[in-house]
Amino acid sequence: MNWIEVGRLDDIPRLGSRVIATELGDIAVFRNAADEVFALRDRCPHRGGPLSQGIVHGRRVTCPLHNWVIELADGEAVAPDVGCAGTFEIREEAGLLYLALPAVSAPALPAAMED
Ligand code: FES
Repeated sequence: MNWIEVGRLDDIPRLGSRVIATELGDIAVFRNAADEVFALRDRCPHRGGPLSQGIVHGRRVTCPLHNWVIELADGEAVAPDVGCAGTFEIREEAGLLYLALPAVSAPALPAAMED
């Protein structure tokens, strides 16, 4: 697993997100009202809507296209909907955010940090 620095916590507004472009596709990094951060693939499991443009509430995000609700912690759609966006590990250290990506994509990523 490779940890890459993806910016500062304060770069993301509360209840907002930013998108990190990676070889694996766009990853949406969310910050909720409690300053928790989550990283999900920026594709809704319904029809691929941009979750990064959704509404964050609690530990969930509502997709902007058809209002599916997705759990930020595990990427799973809230019942009765079924599907998973996929998540990535993310951690905050001294105000900086580090995203974990599978090692296979490391060579093309900037500022890679070996774990
Ligand atoms: S694409 Fe997200 S709810 Fe339909």
